[in-house]
Amino acid sequence: MRKDTPSKTARKVALNIVTLGAKPGMDKVLPPGIVETTAKLLVASGAVGATAVRWSGSRRMVSVYEAFDWMMPGQFEAFGHRKAFCERQVREGIAGGATQVLVLGAGYDTMGWRLAPEFADVNFFEIDHPATARLKAKGIEAMGPHDNLHLINEDLSKRRLVDVLEADDSWDSKMRTVIVAEGLLMYLPPEAVRDLFNQCTAIAGRGSRIAFTYIATGADSRPDAGRWTRLALWILKVTGEPWLWSIQPEKLDRFLKDRGWTNAPELVGTTNKHGVEFLGVATQ
Ligand SMILES: C[S@@+](CC[C@H](N)C(=O)[O-])C[C@H]1O[C@@H](n2cnc3c(N)ncnc32)[C@H](O)[C@@H]1O
Repeated sequence: MRKDTPSKTARKVALNIVTLGAKPGMDKVLPPGIVETTAKLLVASGAVGATAVRWSGSRRMVSVYEAFDWMMPGQFEAFGHRKAFCERQVREGIAGGATQVLVLGAGYDTMGWRLAPEFADVNFFEIDHPATARLKAKGIEAMGPHDNLHLINEDLSKRRLVDVLEADDSWDSKMRTVIVAEGLLMYLPPEAVRDLFNQCTAIAGRGSRIAFTYIATGADSRPDAGRWTRLALWILKVTGEPWLWSIQPEKLDRFLKDRGWTNAPELVGTTNKHGVEFLGVATQ
């Protein structure tokens, strides 16, 4: 991503959620309240103007997204499924005793803000690059902050996750934790992804889980974005947020094991792929 400007892909995901709210049937997939709070956050943060957000929530915009879905088939709805997946992982983790939730590269995700009042004994943490996190914090401030929602501005390519959390008095590395890396890993260089999983073992207690999404590596060793991979990867590159990491799903077991995690496909749910993106869960 460009270092000095707010993430365009984070804004795109959030606007996509607003538009999915206007698509018939998606109310059965999307977590309750996500559409309204995302729209509110985008406007309150100044990330998107009120008119554009209103326009995004229209049936006409659904048609526009559907017309462009040919490039990464199924990806329009996939954003809704991956939000539902992450929230389910967090709820299950909390039901299993987790008292901390950490969302990495949170963008304009509203899960922490929505769940913090419901789970007052759980501490929610979000980390994002300062360029995006500052806008998010402005929006959360306007919407009403929660004592158990901690927003952290940090560029994880400059400062290690373990150091960031060690410096935070509210964080406890012994606690059972749910870590979420939604739509993040593909934007990090391979060595940063390896290091991130390694570090996650150090910051979370036994019984923790990490929920993540990833792109599969294609036959040509590039991230597989479907039939129009070449075009899709080029667009991502020229817009400043290229995909840098992918993995063959059959290699995930080994990759996670080497970093102290156990692949837990049984926790993923009924399908491990929506659009071009795979869903993964690993436990400690
Ligand atoms: C595609 S967006 C996904 C946002 C959110 N997880 C979602 O799915 O709605 C990727 C996010 O990762 C963040 N990110 C990318 N590189 C980062 C870095 N080095 N440090 C912290 N955050 C980073 C971006 O700012 C952006 O918000």
